[in-house]
Formats: sequence, structure tokens, C-alpha cells
Amino acid sequence: MPKAAELHLGDKTIELPIVEGSEGERAIDITRLRSETGYITLDPGYANTGSCRSDITFIDGEKGILRYRGIPIEQLADRSSFLEVAFLLMYGSLPSGDQLSYFKNSIRQHTMLHEDFKKLYGALPKDAHPMAACSAAVGALATFYPDSLDPRDPREVEISVHRLIAKLPTMAAYAYKHSIGQPFMFPNNRYDYVGNFLWMMFGNPCEDYEVDETVRKALDLLFILHADHEQNCSTSTARLVGSSMVNLFSVISASINSLWGPLHGGANQQVIEMLAAIRDEGMTGREFVERAKTKDDTSRLMGFGHRVYKNFDPRAKIIKKACFDVLNKLGVHSKLLEIAVELEEIALSDDYFIERKLYPNVDFYSGVIYNAIGTPSNMFTALFAIGRLPGWIAQWIELHTDPDFKIGRPRQVYTGPNETEYTPLAER
Ligand code: ACO
Repeated sequence: MPKAAELHLGDKTIELPIVEGSEGERAIDITRLRSETGYITLDPGYANTGSCRSDITFIDGEKGILRYRGIPIEQLADRSSFLEVAFLLMYGSLPSGDQLSYFKNSIRQHTMLHEDFKKLYGALPKDAHPMAACSAAVGALATFYPDSLDPRDPREVEISVHRLIAKLPTMAAYAYKHSIGQPFMFPNNRYDYVGNFLWMMFGNPCEDYEVDETVRKALDLLFILHADHEQNCSTSTARLVGSSMVNLFSVISASINSLWGPLHGGANQQVIEMLAAIRDEGMTGREFVERAKTKDDTSRLMGFGHRVYKNFDPRAKIIKKACFDVLNKLGVHSKLLEIAVELEEIALSDDYFIERKLYPNVDFYSGVIYNAIGTPSNMFTALFAIGRLPGWIAQWIELHTDPDFKIGRPRQVYTGPNETEYTPLAER
């Protein structure tokens, strides 16, 4: 492998070092480009731009590989649990038994929200989208905990990390309860992390509620599969916002908003709404796929395509199998699942999708599971956010320990008007 790339610009030649990652990925280091040549690079959508070195998550989009800290996602999905994966991502290795029980215990002790949060939720309209509510509530944590806002103080970081992981499920469940006009359910610490979330979502003070083990396990699996995905849109948001040295709560509030978009995590809600529309309008799968291919029609086949995966998304494979298992165990017959399978079959044998290497992504089947366990579609992306939270935090922690740490500040190629004289109002 060459040690450097040569760049010829007019009569000048400069050498740009080549950086190689532990899995053989290669990058041209352009940090001296502007100072030595006056040029910058232009890369809309950052499709060719590495923003950092990272030890956390490895993806090979051609081979459909995803590993957290080196461990294949298939093994974690099969053998681990969400809080163990959260620990792995944030602290770099699998926890010992003692470390895991300390971690779980600490999370358990921080699940309650300050009572004044009820006023915050009360001020929101009933139909507030849960992602907007979660982003507002997470942002508000910075006002409740001014004692833990310093991103460079290890003790303050530790406590804010534990608070966030513990409280986000409570916040998401409160958003749901607010929207349906039911009383907020206090966390019940006899349950584990996921069981507690189900209790707060689906329990009510008038009835007994038993957490269904099939449902709990399915949700735990989905959280694991969503836990990190290297420099995606919401994670890059976490790094960019965090690079201003603002506190973790503000960082995560921004990432939640970024995840909400339909081209990112918001796609899971869009998928189920697409499947329901196909069912309700009596459209055939073929008709919808044809529509998704038409450029003048805005509907895409939601849950298909990925910037990095160009062969298959390993998460989608696991979720599809889980989808059949869970629905089978719950005895749910889902017309939406039938439509999803039909759409997948049609798209995977259609030249348009084959040529563009478009495959089902993580969002294609996850909504069918969420739907089968009784979650309303506007909550889907909030579930994604709970799953992705440890990944955002891990990347934020790594940002702050990176020897190359700098505030994130891209440049631009200006294409606006040249210097123009100000025209006084009377002369316009
Ligand atoms: N349906 C129909 N056509 C599609 C789809 C789709 N789902 N996805 C991409 N294409 C087409 C585009 O129109 C484009 O065609 P063209 O070359 O003829 O113009 C080509 O495939 C490339 O698409 P881009 O949008 O340029 O690819 P990019 O890498 O920028 O976008 C993205 C990836 C945003 C995921 C895209 O595939 C998409 O919009 N998918 C649907 C939304 C979705 O499922 N998002 C979730 C992604 S996973 C996640 O974030 C958790």
C-alpha cells in the first residue's frame, strides 16, 4: 500500500498521507490540504468523507457486516442483552458480572423523572409527536441537572450518562400516555430495563399488567440491533453538536431531532404507514413498487436503500426472522407483514432496485413487530431513539477523548452574488 497520495495542482505537487484502519479501510488525510494549496474538498452528503477515527462500530456495506467493538451483531443479537450492549459500546468491552450488576442497578435507580416534568408534558398538545416531546424533555434535563453538564468531568459525565439511559424510556412512555390521556405510570423497578418500559407504556393504575416475555425479548433484541451504526446522520449530529463542548443532554436532544427525519429513523413510521395505505387503498404490491420507481412521484419504497449497505443490511435479516417468530408466538396474523414480504420479493427482483443496490434496511420489518406488540406508529421512532442512545453516547465520549478533537466546522464553496452596494430602502 502506498504511504501517501500525490496531488498535482498546476505546477505544484503535494503528498497527502494515507491512513489505514484496522479492517483495511483506507483514507487520504487532507488535513493540510487548504494550508498548503488554498483548496478545500467538496463532498455533498459526506459520502466520501471520514469525519473521525473510531474504535466503536465496524460496517462493511458490501459484505453486510456489522460489529460493535469487534463482536458480530449476529452474536450480540443471539446472546447478549441491551444493557450489556450499551455497556460494551460506551465503555469499550463486555462487562464483568459485577460491572454489569452495578451498571444495571445504577440505571434502575435513575428511572424516575422529577415531578415537575408533568407540567412540561402538560404544556404540550395531546397530538404532540413523541419525538418532539422526547427531544424537549431530554433538553430540559439540562435545566434540572446543572450539576452534571461538564463534558470533560468524568464524574459528571458518568452521572449524566446513567440519568439519560434510565430516563429516556420514562420520557417516551410519558409522551405516549399524555397523547392518549392516561395517567403517567411511575417506573416499577421490579422489572428490568425493557420490562419497565413496557410497564410504563401499557400498564395503567386500574389493572394488573404482566410483562409478556416474548414481547420483552423482541424489544430487547430490537434495541440491540439499533444501538449503534457509526457515523450516521443522528450520530454525526451528536459529534458536531458535542464538538461545541455543550452538555450531553443538549447533544442528545439534537440527535433525537435528527433521527426523527423520514430519511433516517423516521422511516420506520413511514414504512408501517405505507403498508397500511397499500392495504387500505387496495393497491397491489406491484402497483406501489412501480410508483416508488417513478421520479415524478414523491413516494419511495420506505425501508429500502442505505447509504452504506449495498448488498444486504444484516440487521434487516435478523429482524425479518424475529418478526415471523414473534408474530407466530403471539398468534398474530398480520396483513401488513404479508404486504411487506410481497413488496420485498417484487423489489429484490426488479432491475431498478437491483441496479441501484437497494435492499431492505433496519426499518423495513421493525415496524411490523412494534405494531404487533401494540405500539402506535408515531412511537416507533422513539423506540429507535431508546435503542440508539448508547451509540450516540459512546460516540460522544470518544469525541471528547480524541487527540484530534476540534470544533466541527465544515467549509463551503460560496456561489452567491459578488460584492454589491447596499441600496437604501427608498431606492428599492
Ligand atoms: N425507493 C425508491 N428509490 C430509491 C430508494 C427507495 N427507497 N432509495 C434510493 N432510491 C433511488 C434514488 O431515487 C436514486 O435513484 P437515481 O440514481 O435514479 O436518482 C438512487 O436510488 C440512489 O438514492 P440516493 O437517495 O441518492 O441514496 P442515498 O445513499 O443518498 O440515500 C437513503 C439513502 C436515504 C436511505 C435512501 O435509500 C432512502 O431514501 N430510502 C428510503 C428511506 C429509508 O428507508 N430510510 C432509512 C435508512 S436506514 C436508517 O437511517 C436507520
